[in-house]
Amino acid sequence: MKRVIVTGANGQLGLALKDVAKDFNLDLVFKDKSALDITDAKAVNKVFFSDTFDVCINAAAYTDVDGAETNKSLAFAINATAVETLAKVCKQHQCWLIHVSTDYVFDGTLGRPYTPSDEPNPLSVYGSSKLSGERVIQEIDFDYSIVRTSWLYSRFGVNFYTKIKSQIDLGIPLKICSLQIGTPTRTEDFAKHIISGLENNSLIRGLSHYCGKQHMTWFELAKRLFPNSKIERDLERNLKIRPLRVVLKN
Ligand SMILES: NC(=O)c1ccc[n+]([C@@H]2O[C@H](COP(=O)([O-])OP(=O)(O)OC[C@H]3O[C@@H](n4cnc5c(N)ncnc54)[C@H](OP(=O)(O)O)[C@@H]3O)[C@@H](O)[C@H]2O)c1
Repeated sequence: MKRVIVTGANGQLGLALKDVAKDFNLDLVFKDKSALDITDAKAVNKVFFSDTFDVCINAAAYTDVDGAETNKSLAFAINATAVETLAKVCKQHQCWLIHVSTDYVFDGTLGRPYTPSDEPNPLSVYGSSKLSGERVIQEIDFDYSIVRTSWLYSRFGVNFYTKIKSQIDLGIPLKICSLQIGTPTRTEDFAKHIISGLENNSLIRGLSHYCGKQHMTWFELAKRLFPNSKIERDLERNLKIRPLRVVLKN
């Protein structure tokens, strides 16, 4: 049975991984930020020296796209420097690193779905920090999978679905961006993709994409998730740091 450590266990993806993993034959250790701060290199090394893991899923990240514009050093510390620490420790301990990245590495100008071999060009600090995280992994010769996904939504943690639901529950009028286009991905599906892929060893090594089957605007996604709620179109989202149209190709 594979022994797996999951960082960032209290985030949306971490919680979904925990939920999905119940149905698989794996020995999982979940570490939230208070149990393992991945920017603390000493703590990361200690965990790997005091235990043995076959796989590390890095679900920890700085994910506040707007906040990253003014917290650049923190975004890079978590999304790039700490990822390098994890990669080095995984190499040292012969542990397969599964790292998650984002559609925000692209600028959205391609005009067709993005494949893993398309050239990234992030518009935002968040996207740049995540791309740096990919690059530090790729520079080290070891066993890794980087999976880019997009627009994760679920009942877990804080995300598009839970934020809208709480606004609806509070009776707050909803205006949702109808300009940006992307590929929404059910977080449970993504978690299952990772967990089943690591259990049966089928998860692609190197760089791959995983996303939902249809592309749409945030407004369209909100209408699908909450068909009976009154939702207005918003044309004012900050699109300087958000790619207008990124459709990932699986
Ligand atoms: N959400 C999306 O739509 C989306 C789309 C594409 C890709 N992704 C990628 O998917 C991955 C998971 O995202 P998510 O939606 O689950 O994000 P999330 O809900 O924000 O979860 C990230 C988790 O990482 C934790 N964390 C932050 N700094 C940490 C540190 N120094 N050490 C350990 N843990 C730390 C956070 O804790 P605190 O909250 O306490 O800081 C949080 O629990 C990320 O790599 C993200 O870039 C997400």
